[in-house]
Amino acid sequence: MRRIENFDLSAYNTFRMKVSCALYIEYDSIEELKGLDFSSLPQPVMSIGEGANLLFTQDFPGTVLHSAIRYIRYFDVGGDTVPVAVGAGVKFDDFIAKACGDGLWGVENLSAIPGSVGACAVQNVGAYGSEAGDVVAGVTCYDTLTHEKCSFKAEDCRFGYRDSIFKDPLLKGRYVITGVLFRLKRTFSPKLEYKGIRAALGLDENTPAPKTLTPADVRNAVIAIRAAKLPDPAIVGSAGSFFKNPVVSAAEFARISDGYTQVPHYLLEGGFIKVPAAWLIDQCGLKGFRLGGAAVHDTQPLVLINASGDARPDEILALEQKIKDSVRERFGVSLEPEVEHI
Ligand code: EPU
Repeated sequence: MRRIENFDLSAYNTFRMKVSCALYIEYDSIEELKGLDFSSLPQPVMSIGEGANLLFTQDFPGTVLHSAIRYIRYFDVGGDTVPVAVGAGVKFDDFIAKACGDGLWGVENLSAIPGSVGACAVQNVGAYGSEAGDVVAGVTCYDTLTHEKCSFKAEDCRFGYRDSIFKDPLLKGRYVITGVLFRLKRTFSPKLEYKGIRAALGLDENTPAPKTLTPADVRNAVIAIRAAKLPDPAIVGSAGSFFKNPVVSAAEFARISDGYTQVPHYLLEGGFIKVPAAWLIDQCGLKGFRLGGAAVHDTQPLVLINASGDARPDEILALEQKIKDSVRERFGVSLEPEVEHI
C-alpha cells in the first residue's frame, strides 16, 4: 500500500489540472482496504481510476483512493460465452487489447477509451454503438459501511446513459469497486452500425461483414476513427466528452430544428430525441474557441481541452459556462456536464 500526504494529482487526472489531495492511498487488495479505518481518513474519501472523467475544480481536502488491483482471469469452459474477471485497477484499454487479441467479441468498439476497468462500470462508458453495461455481468466491491466484500449483478447496477447505481448520490462513496466480471463472446458478433466504422474497415453499407473479420480488426478501425476526431490523451489534456448529449421532447426538437434543413438526432423510446451536443456547440460557432488556457477541441467540440498545458480549473469552468450560455440562448437547451466536477 502506498500512502502519501499532500499528493500532486496532476498525473492522476487526464485534464492535467495541477491540484493536490490531502492524502493519497494506493491499495493492492481488498484486504488492504479492510485494514483502513475510513473514519480516521481526511474527508471526504473518493475513489479514482485514471481520473479520465473528472474535473478537479480545486485542491481536494480529503483522501483519494486509487486501485492497483490488477488481474485478468478467464473462466473459459469452452462455450460461446467467456466470463472474464478483471481487477478494477487494470486500464480498460489493456483489457480490451487482450480480449481482442484473444479473439473475443464484446468490447472492441470501446477501444482506446481512457480510464480504468472500475471507472468503466461507474460511468457505463460507451462509444460506437456499445456500452460497457452491455457486457458487464457483475461488479465486486468493498462496502465501506459493512466492511465486507459484496457484489452487484448487472441488473442491480442500473446501467443507463453514462450512469449506474454507483453514481447515486445516496450511495456515493459507500462502495469501492474492486473488480468487474465481463461476459465476452467467442461467436462472431461485430457491431458495425455506428457511422464511420464500416468505411474504416473498407466495407460499404450493404456488404455483409466478412466472416474473416476479427475483434482486433474492429478495434483497429475504432482506434483510427478516434485518432482522427479526438485529442490524443498522451499529448493534450481533456476528459473526453465534457457534456452529455441532451434528450429533448418532439416539441423541443421542432423548435431546435427551426431554420435548419436537417438536424442530426437519434430517436429514443417514448418519443424522446437525443441531439448531439457537438452539433449544438458547433452551430454556436464555438469550435476551436479559446478562453485562457482552455479551448473547445476543433474536430470534436464536445471535448474541452487543456490547450495551454497549464490551464487552470477556473478557465475550464469559465469555458463551460460560456458554452452552456450560448447553447441555451440559441436553442433553449440546457447542457449537462458528463464530466464529474470535484
Ligand atoms: N458533430 C458536429 N460537429 C462536429 C462534430 C460532430 O455537428 O464538429 C455532430 C455530427 O452530426 C455527428 C454528431 O455530432 O454526427 C455526433 O458526433 P460523434 O459521432 O463524434 O458522437 P458524439 O455524440 O458527439 C458520443 C460520445 C463519445 C463517443 C462517440 C462515438 C457522449 C457524451 N459522447 O459523442 O464518447 O466516443 O459518441 O460513439 O455520449 C466520451 O464519453 O468521452 C466520448 C468521447
